[in-house]
Amino acid sequence: MRGHARNGDRMDWDIKGRGKALKGETVVPPDKSISHRAVMFGAICRGKLRIKNFLFAEDCMRTFQAFRELGCDIEREGDDVLVSGKGLKGLKAPDKELYLGNSGTTMRIISGIIAGAGISAVLTGDASLSARPMARITIPLGEMGFSISTMNGDLPPVKIEKGHGPIRPIDYRTPVASAQVKSCVLAAGLYAPGVTSVTEPFQSRDHTERMLRYFSAGIERCGLTTRVTGRKELAGRDVDVPGDISSAAFFIVASSVIEGSQVILRNVGLNPTRTGIIKVMTRMGADIEVLDKREGVEPKGDIRIRSSELKGTVISQEEIPLLIDEVPALIVAALKARGETLIEGISELKVKESDRVKCMSENLKRMGYEISESRGALIVPGAGQTLLSAELDSYGDHRIAMSMAVAALLAEGESRVKNTSCVDTSYPGFMSHLNALRGE
Ligand code: S3P
Repeated sequence: MRGHARNGDRMDWDIKGRGKALKGETVVPPDKSISHRAVMFGAICRGKLRIKNFLFAEDCMRTFQAFRELGCDIEREGDDVLVSGKGLKGLKAPDKELYLGNSGTTMRIISGIIAGAGISAVLTGDASLSARPMARITIPLGEMGFSISTMNGDLPPVKIEKGHGPIRPIDYRTPVASAQVKSCVLAAGLYAPGVTSVTEPFQSRDHTERMLRYFSAGIERCGLTTRVTGRKELAGRDVDVPGDISSAAFFIVASSVIEGSQVILRNVGLNPTRTGIIKVMTRMGADIEVLDKREGVEPKGDIRIRSSELKGTVISQEEIPLLIDEVPALIVAALKARGETLIEGISELKVKESDRVKCMSENLKRMGYEISESRGALIVPGAGQTLLSAELDSYGDHRIAMSMAVAALLAEGESRVKNTSCVDTSYPGFMSHLNALRGE
């Protein structure tokens, strides 16, 4: 790995394949989902709160900036963020359109808050966010009586108008297992008279539920249904953000598949709705040990990974929401496994920051490796095909960039991952952490 080559505004990575094991330890960046929520729900609490170890990366800064534009007092202090909550109804309409960059989480959850708060706003994003489906939130919010629409078919901009009719709580069965959708409806439910519920087809990450409970909301979960009682003010409390297991995933995979590796990742979030990667990798034969698990609103701990032989597995549709952002990294792990890996229920992967099925397939094809799709499942044939060095592309998607960096470590010769500045959305220091673990 030689690191960076500038190419106009684009940053490329040149990565040497085959060789050096990963050794040592690293602290992965703070959790993106929890950082977003701490600002969003902190802003509508009563009282001040400190968000310790906030993720100062592009996506979360969109949320930070958006809430400033909504009139919230929010400041950076070192690694922390200080928020003075405005209460449920204290936000003001922004002076201009809210530009949310690449962040689908911001657009979807903030829509529930803005609609609930009874203000008007137009939400826009970059080319990737402008191509992401929004009917999944406009339908339930419309059923609650809010005036919300998309301005380009099902796609952003999203327009929210105040001055709607009566707002009602709903019992919403979401067709997709999406924490963003669930969180949007629960956020709007904070403002509705009575109890709003969301039932999801499979369990998705539950950071919203945990944080709202911690902020004294009337919220309860029963199986796949979460209920929130509206019109009750939230009480702000300090939030401690653990490391992001989705960022840890690249090192979990790299140190599992590169012989001789032994890595410790410190302070990683271990919420059971996010640890699908550990469960699946362990099933594949990975040697992963959780050291020093600390319980709390969000459990966390250190993870030790030692390289090992992997075998193929079946990842079921029900497991997908528990590892949705880790699928590209898991595909890379499956390249080195003995036997085939089948990944079921991949449709949601096609509507992320990129079509991740297509982008991974195209990149791997350049490396001389074929993955295929059959009846809604992805088939990764496993070890046996040599990975060739190649020119790879992030397609503007941070997780594709980092997954392909790991794949490049396994190739013959030197590869280039093009267009990698997108990693700034979640993991600005990724390449220097990878270099340090490889002793470079
Ligand atoms: C997120 C939920 C997931 C995930 C995204 C972050 C969140 O999306 O892919 O990166 O913070 O709620 P879906 O819940 O829509 O699958």
